[in-house]
Amino acid sequence: MQIHETIAGLRAARGYAGRLALVPTMGNLHEGHIALMTQARSHADQVMATIFVNRLQFRPGEDFETYPRTFEADCEKLAGAGVDHLFAPTEAEMYPQPQTYQIEPPPEQAGILDGEFRPGHFRGVATVVMKLFQIAQPDAALFGKKDYQQLMVIRNMAREFNLPIEIIGGETVRAADGLALSSRNGYLSATERAQATNLYRVLTKVAEAVRDGSRDWASLEQGAVRELQASGWIPDYVALRKKVDLQLPSAHDSGLVVLAAARLGSTRLIDNLEV
Ligand code: PAF
Repeated sequence: MQIHETIAGLRAARGYAGRLALVPTMGNLHEGHIALMTQARSHADQVMATIFVNRLQFRPGEDFETYPRTFEADCEKLAGAGVDHLFAPTEAEMYPQPQTYQIEPPPEQAGILDGEFRPGHFRGVATVVMKLFQIAQPDAALFGKKDYQQLMVIRNMAREFNLPIEIIGGETVRAADGLALSSRNGYLSATERAQATNLYRVLTKVAEAVRDGSRDWASLEQGAVRELQASGWIPDYVALRKKVDLQLPSAHDSGLVVLAAARLGSTRLIDNLEV
């Protein structure tokens, strides 16, 4: 695996033939990331991962400083997964001057759900992803469905800017008890980790109720919030939305997704299930 720390170095190596698939990450890689690398391989001749903890998408008081940085272990995992290129720039390389030009996704996509609780988050994500696209010029790019809203924002950005990049979603990888794999799971204490499975359980219950014909979205959401609270979580939201644009569904809509964000102790996790 070739490791590139500079944009110039990466561009010099960009002479390779064939399709390139990009998998942007912030590192601290787990099986979910590795599944994306494997999936990327089936869409391209060359796979490039990126590791960059992007300050722009963290709000003051969030975990930018403490976000786990495990570069050596990540490199081993990527090399083991057969990744061809790793782009791992420093902050000075990515942001040599303040990033005054930024991508502002529309509020109806980026100001709802997670965007309501993390204002500016998707601006930071869209901006860094646009930069990574310009730097690597991939033919395809893969993002996990666990960050469902992020995937939608990036898909729409690519479409509206006519980027010649196929945006591909990867299925969420879960632990045996259902907890979605996340770099932030490592923040959970042993007790919290045991409680954490309730997030998946509650989402599963909502998804099953919808499949069984329930259409009272508000009472399903409120019931889920109460159940999460009863098992120690502090929910930000549980929301049933249309998969295609994450807007509110009417009673006749199908193709839904139930999304949740909640805190357990000081750890905030998100998850979702397509219905
Ligand atoms: O999902 C992530 O890890 C990040 O939001 C991303 C897409 C790498 C942008 O920093």
